[in-house]
Amino acid sequence: MGIQITPSILNADLAHLADEVARIPGADWVHVDVMDNHFVPNLTLGLPVVASLARVAEQPLDAHLMIADPDRWAPAYAEAGCGSVTFHVEAAGAPVRLAREIRGLGARASMALKPATPIEPYEDLLPELDTLLIMTVEPGFGGQKFLDLCLPKIRRARELMRRHGVETWLQVDGGVSLETIERCADAGADVFVAGSAVYAADDPDAMVAELRARAEA
Ligand code: DX5
Ligand code: ZN
Repeated sequence: MGIQITPSILNADLAHLADEVARIPGADWVHVDVMDNHFVPNLTLGLPVVASLARVAEQPLDAHLMIADPDRWAPAYAEAGCGSVTFHVEAAGAPVRLAREIRGLGARASMALKPATPIEPYEDLLPELDTLLIMTVEPGFGGQKFLDLCLPKIRRARELMRRHGVETWLQVDGGVSLETIERCADAGADVFVAGSAVYAADDPDAMVAELRARAEA
């Protein structure tokens, strides 16, 4: 797989979700941020909305679960038709079992790390994962400033993937824009979530194309 662009609908008009998703036909995935007001200090949407969106969206959904107890809740997102389900390792009780369960339900299994969570303790889990998500802001809100301090971890993760010989995708999320995407790509990321950059643009689909071009450069 080459570069993939995954707009987050967090900053879209949530009253017109299906229309907002239809504005980004050039996107590879649609990133849906699920927050529970426990794992992060914000509340967004949950399974019923995600399941409805999965039925109407052209692109597969990339569910990013910023929730407590993902062991209990994540499999339902795979059952609801999400193409990828991301849980946070900081919240998971049994990440290996959970990743296997998500895969068993036919979705890509993805594990996320907050900015202060190191990759090294989890390198042996890489073969169990289809995607590793490295957060480049503290999760909870769109529109935050990109944290450059996460770049060395992206490099290390890419290096560990090479060493382990795995095909795991390396996703970044938070503050990704025309200004920051090249840094992430240089560090080894290949899947890019962008929320405010896409939905604050006059033409979101043109922005998806611009971001892709910038990452591929
Ligand atoms: C933040 C979310 C992100 C957010 C990204 O906790 O996980 O997906 O929507 O928004 P931007 O691109 O504006 O940082
Ligand atoms: Zn996200």
